[in-house]
Amino acid sequence: MRNPKILVLERSGALAEQFERVVADLRPRPEISTAARVGVVADILATEGPFDVLVAGPSLGTRTGLARLEVIHDELPTMQLLLAFGRRPDAALRDIVRTGAVDLVQLPVDDELLRESIGRVLDMAKMVDAPHEPASAMSMSGSGQHTHGRVFTMSSATGGCGKTFIATNLAYLLSHYSGKRACIIDLDLQFGEVSTALRLRPRYTIYDALQRQDADEVDLQNHLEEYMVTHDSGISVLAAPKDPAEADGIDPMDVSRIINAARARFDYVVVDTPSALNEIVLAAFDLSDTLFTMATLDLPSVRNMGVFLSALDRLKIPSDNIQLLLNKAETDVGIDVAQVTRLFPQGFSAVLPYAKEVSRSINLGTPVLASSPNSQISKLILDGFSLLLPESDRAKTAFANAVPAADAHGGGRRLFRRQPAHQAR
Ligand SMILES: Nc1ncnc2c1ncn2[C@@H]1O[C@H](COP(=O)(O)OP(=O)(O)OP(=O)(O)O)[C@@H](O)[C@H]1O
Ligand SMILES: [Mg+2]
Repeated sequence: MRNPKILVLERSGALAEQFERVVADLRPRPEISTAARVGVVADILATEGPFDVLVAGPSLGTRTGLARLEVIHDELPTMQLLLAFGRRPDAALRDIVRTGAVDLVQLPVDDELLRESIGRVLDMAKMVDAPHEPASAMSMSGSGQHTHGRVFTMSSATGGCGKTFIATNLAYLLSHYSGKRACIIDLDLQFGEVSTALRLRPRYTIYDALQRQDADEVDLQNHLEEYMVTHDSGISVLAAPKDPAEADGIDPMDVSRIINAARARFDYVVVDTPSALNEIVLAAFDLSDTLFTMATLDLPSVRNMGVFLSALDRLKIPSDNIQLLLNKAETDVGIDVAQVTRLFPQGFSAVLPYAKEVSRSINLGTPVLASSPNSQISKLILDGFSLLLPESDRAKTAFANAVPAADAHGGGRRLFRRQPAHQAR
């Protein structure tokens, strides 16, 4: 009989330690693994295979955390969920019920109570008579199989920061260097520009996808790609409505359905948003593994980024899922990067310069990473985002990054064309 597997999701490690102690006498002895953030759960499941039990620690005891648990439960209904919170979550009872949790313990909890609870949850796990899917079934789509794609959302308080520019380049980077499938969902519902930035002419849009009368969510997953348009680079785009008036009828629940359907079909889902903090955008944040918040190097934009981050904090969006980006950073503009970095001690994942190659790429309808791969801005984008790729694919971006040096000796361009990601496609 195999050992049951328990994944403990918490930041401190204290709960996992207590679990190790209380399961020591159980036979077969459960194996305990830990994850610090909910965003890495999909990766852990993909590499380590399915778990019998997921223990959600105190950081998940928020409205957003519960929404994420609900998504995990929908995707993996056979994995039993045990909630371990310090206090009653600041959420509706319905949100708790919808996570599908089979038990809830209040921390701190004594060993005896925890042992009893985990015993009960393991019994439930045994009763679920579903064969475990191999881990690979979770990670590849395109063949109709379900995946659990990672969701990256671009956001900003002020307009024109470069969200759409980064969204297209991020989707390109992720699919190009991993050989996996990426899509962009344009949630700038009134004035979305993703298809313009990629010079695409979508026949259908998110509005049309939502007009379907699907019997269930699997139906929407199976048909979503019919409403997308595919760029030469392989990125699929679900465009914003053609008529801004059509945006009015789209609500947060629609957004959640679309993102969930997309992540079931794509390995990477990049979401572009308007410069706003409305319910539509918040619905996307709730389902995002990483939320990128952008500013440009000018005082109003930087100031509003601070206001935006405070609002996210009040809305209990977990700050460890937020990464900051600074774009159009020029020198001699009366404010410099060092000053801005002091204001945001969490730091910036990337600081990108103002670069003429960007307008060129937009005019060509090609991500700058493809149209000007050797430019400084492309190098900085690769530096800033390659960590989002699976570890095994990161070296390919370093190889591409080494190209300008080779260029200086006359061989760079050829080298770049021969890089492994092309061969992988
Ligand atoms: N690093 C850069 N260097 C030069 N131009 C840039 C850079 N980043 C973005 N741009 C240009 O700035 C303009 C605004 O960029 P983009 O449309 O991506 O911003 P946005 O945040 O999506 O704007 P909105 O809030 O209106 O949706 C575009 O014309 C884009 O080409
Ligand atoms: Mg935009």
